[in-house]
Amino acid sequence: MNADLQAPTSIDDTEQRLLALDYVPERALATTVFLALRLQRPLFLEGEPGTGKTEIAKTLAAMLGRPLIRLQCHEGLDLAGAAYEWNYARQMLEIRLAEATHEAQDQGGSGGRAKLAQELFSERFLVKRALLQAIDPANPVPPVLLIDELDRADEPFEAFLLEVLSDFQITIPEYGTVKAAAPPIVVLTSNRTREIHDAVKRRCLYHWVGFPDAAREAQILARRVPGAPQALSAQIVAFVQRLREVELYKLPGIAETIEWTRALMELDALVLDPETVNHTLGVLLKYQDDIAKVQGSEAARLLEQVRRDTEAQGR
Ligand SMILES: Nc1ncnc2c1ncn2[C@@H]1O[C@H](COP(=O)(O)OP(=O)(O)OP(=O)(O)O)[C@@H](O)[C@H]1O
Ligand SMILES: [Mg+2]
Repeated sequence: MNADLQAPTSIDDTEQRLLALDYVPERALATTVFLALRLQRPLFLEGEPGTGKTEIAKTLAAMLGRPLIRLQCHEGLDLAGAAYEWNYARQMLEIRLAEATHEAQDQGGSGGRAKLAQELFSERFLVKRALLQAIDPANPVPPVLLIDELDRADEPFEAFLLEVLSDFQITIPEYGTVKAAAPPIVVLTSNRTREIHDAVKRRCLYHWVGFPDAAREAQILARRVPGAPQALSAQIVAFVQRLREVELYKLPGIAETIEWTRALMELDALVLDPETVNHTLGVLLKYQDDIAKVQGSEAARLLEQVRRDTEAQGR
């Protein structure tokens, strides 16, 4: 394998290689990622929306030259959707074919039936979903498996994951146990709309992904929207940081900061002014109550704080 694509050798190395792909990690996240790779343990990331949880899995795949296999969790997700199911239609067809052939040749009997039953539960009829694909021993390189937004799946689903997370294997009653030749890199994320079971968390290394401080957010913006005027970026970061101090239903994440910067550039804004802010709040805030609360005098108050914050930085 290409030496550049091998696992990082230190926390610094992890940090540098994430940065090289424009992912700006906190030191604590770089440490957890480094340890998860070294100890071959799944990484469990919980945190606010739009703070880089999904992105870290994509970045790790690129960084290590691994394919990314993504399991998007949702209500009602079950084993058939996440791991495997038998292709009933093909199995039925096979049975019909066997019956027709046996009738024609007037053979069959119990030996033929047993053989057929065995064949019906062979790999040929197995439909592999994300979890099984991730531990397929035929994989040339172990992939990055992203189990995204686990809190959206129903609680019983978590029990399916335990075998995968601790032993990197899945037992299929009719078929046997499928075990990864080499363990995949597993990243689980949750927005914490509910608590994930301790049994899942215990098998993982845990990291809470919070909102970035001003310095890191500025660094992220510089990398993700490189063409943004510097004065504008500084004001945007200061504004979003202050906005996150307001009691709102949904605070803006990094994704929203990036989007807002792009929006303001489209409008050729060079600095933040009250009117532009009021008219573009929908890029940052997605609830009418939040927008109504900020629009007008609150936005003016925040802009005044931004003016003081950026002046203080300039000094
Ligand atoms: N640390 C970071 N460094 C660079 N870019 C980042 C970082 N964190 C977030 N981003 C940017 O923010 C965007 C949104 O991040 P991502 O989709 O990973 O959020 P998330 O935490 O998975 O959110 P959600 O919970 O809503 O799914 C990314 O596409 C990326 O551009
Ligand atoms: Mg996500």
